[in-house]
Amino acid sequence: MESAFASGSDGVDLCSADVAQQVLFAQQLGWQAFSLGALERMHDREARPTGAVKSAEAIANEMMILLNIDLRIAQVRPRVEKCVHRGGRDAALQRPGSVTRCPYPSCHRFSFAFLQAFCEEEDDNLTRNHKNRIMKTENLESVARKLVAPGKGILAADESSGTIEKRLKSISIPSTEENRRAYREVLFTTKGAGDFISGVILFDETIRQKTRDGRTFVEALEQQGIIPGIKVDKGAKAMANFPGEKITEGLDGLREQLAEYRQLGARFAKWRAVIAIGENIPTRTCIEANAEALARYAALCQEADVVPIVEPEVLMDGAHTIERHFDVTEQTLRSVFDALAEHRVVLEEMLLKPNMVLSGKECPQQASVEEVAEATVRCMKRVVPAAVPGLVFLSGGQSDQQATEHLNAMNRLQGLPWQLSFSFGRALQAPVLKVWKGEAANVTAAQQAFHHRAWCNSKARFGKYTEDMETAKAA
Ligand code: 13P
Repeated sequence: MESAFASGSDGVDLCSADVAQQVLFAQQLGWQAFSLGALERMHDREARPTGAVKSAEAIANEMMILLNIDLRIAQVRPRVEKCVHRGGRDAALQRPGSVTRCPYPSCHRFSFAFLQAFCEEEDDNLTRNHKNRIMKTENLESVARKLVAPGKGILAADESSGTIEKRLKSISIPSTEENRRAYREVLFTTKGAGDFISGVILFDETIRQKTRDGRTFVEALEQQGIIPGIKVDKGAKAMANFPGEKITEGLDGLREQLAEYRQLGARFAKWRAVIAIGENIPTRTCIEANAEALARYAALCQEADVVPIVEPEVLMDGAHTIERHFDVTEQTLRSVFDALAEHRVVLEEMLLKPNMVLSGKECPQQASVEEVAEATVRCMKRVVPAAVPGLVFLSGGQSDQQATEHLNAMNRLQGLPWQLSFSFGRALQAPVLKVWKGEAANVTAAQQAFHHRAWCNSKARFGKYTEDMETAKAA
């Protein structure tokens, strides 16, 4: 049957009209009460700090949905009223068991009949149109920009089976599917996480899992205003003929895989290349092979309507100095941006996930927080075009507090052409794992730990983090 959501009763397409036109249209039809109700609810929602994205575009979208609901109610109501007031003889419209207990039986009959009529005839058009509108108004660039919105950053929760096993083992928990699911649920259902977390990177298993109350993780994240993403590489493997070096695999079948992940709700993806520093490494061959793979991955992502996060990680393992880390990071990023240009990747529609420029973990001379911030930003400015909307740093084995301090110091520097944000795995999760320990009784405390860590990093996005926040309550 024809739906009121696809088109109004006089054939006007409600979904493609802009908000103002809809208000006028509704008012002309004498539906002021409904449209004003929608307006009020919109104002109400805007005033409440829900943590959801509140761009003008998002508000306009919500507005249209509410108006559509009002218009739909207006259409269904007379028929249901007629039916219920006929005496409610239709047994199918009565809620079993409820009528006799209720002091207002006709009210129950009305609301149930209403719900039934609404759902049966609604035919899911509301949801579909909402999604279509979002798809029309959101493009890769706007998704990339939302991911680096001020005060927010990304949680990397895409540990592969091997890595999550290591993490769970550190708290003496076996890596069963249920334990992995339960742990991820702790993170994704933390109340208020959406205030500081813009996106979450999921693993193949995780994007298919659900919360205990039956929502897919994708839905649970979207309800928090968090954008779901997906790791698509198949891991860094030993590179033949290049001892000590790695090449990331996963390009075969990637086009089909991206289409499936997009269907499952992923709006962005991640591919990690690993460059190690050591005696006579990295070689140019290793850097270029990884850069080429990153660029081919990024091109496929954009083709599939998915924002690519390009992650060439120069490891901090080793005794090298910060100067050596600077040089290798610069060379690597140069190759990556050359390859991205060769593959016609649109810079405005991607994000870079770089390492910070640090002293090697075993280097006796450790650079200060200010030196790390200065070296990292200087290195990035040399090679990362300003067209890239944002840099989302990995933590790479720094302690959680160190990673936050470095991010904070970078954001205090002047003249940054991009958003400087985070896409931390360990630096966001370490305190959560420590508190959770696999016990249901610790979930609330673990979520508080996550919320607190995310809040500290949110402050660092503005250069407003201070050490005393470590013991303060998130505000
Ligand atoms: P770390 O922050 O633990 O380095 O993880 C980030 C990530 O996603 C690595 O690919």
